Amino acid sequence: MRIAVGSDHRGVNLRAKIVSLLQDLGQEVIDVGTQHHEPVDYPDIAALVAEKVSSGEVQRGILICGTGLGMAIAANKFPGVRAAPCHDDLTAEMSRRHNDLNVLCLSGDMLGERLVDRLVEMWLKTDFEGGRHQRRVQKIADLENQ
Ligand code: RB5
Repeated sequence: MRIAVGSDHRGVNLRAKIVSLLQDLGQEVIDVGTQHHEPVDYPDIAALVAEKVSSGEVQRGILICGTGLGMAIAANKFPGVRAAPCHDDLTAEMSRRHNDLNVLCLSGDMLGERLVDRLVEMWLKTDFEGGRHQRRVQKIADLENQ
């Protein structure tokens, strides 16, 4: 799978760990930065990743900021992007099974390293259930066209 990964300054360290985890798992990673600890504005990074998901250049995205919240708000402005913060295995699993989440948003400040590994692996391996959830996800897409 091709996955774009980005963070603001609050997620630089966690992003490096996630990029290497994804590569170890055989995923193709596009790392959009930021590469430095100087403050950047999270919507600028969210846009780089969300645009790639929206256009189909990548299948999934991962965004990290202090809380994961701002990244999700910004990324959801792009058509076809379904972004939300996940903070444990269960939210990661359900985000895939029911919501077909294609942009995982994480807190760079509040998650332990081993928890993040489990969470990301769960999010990668869990399939969308479709069925009644497909109808609901389609209704979200319809809202974009109103
Ligand atoms: C930056 O200080 C912080 O606001 C950002 O990383 C993020 O938590 C926003 O939602």
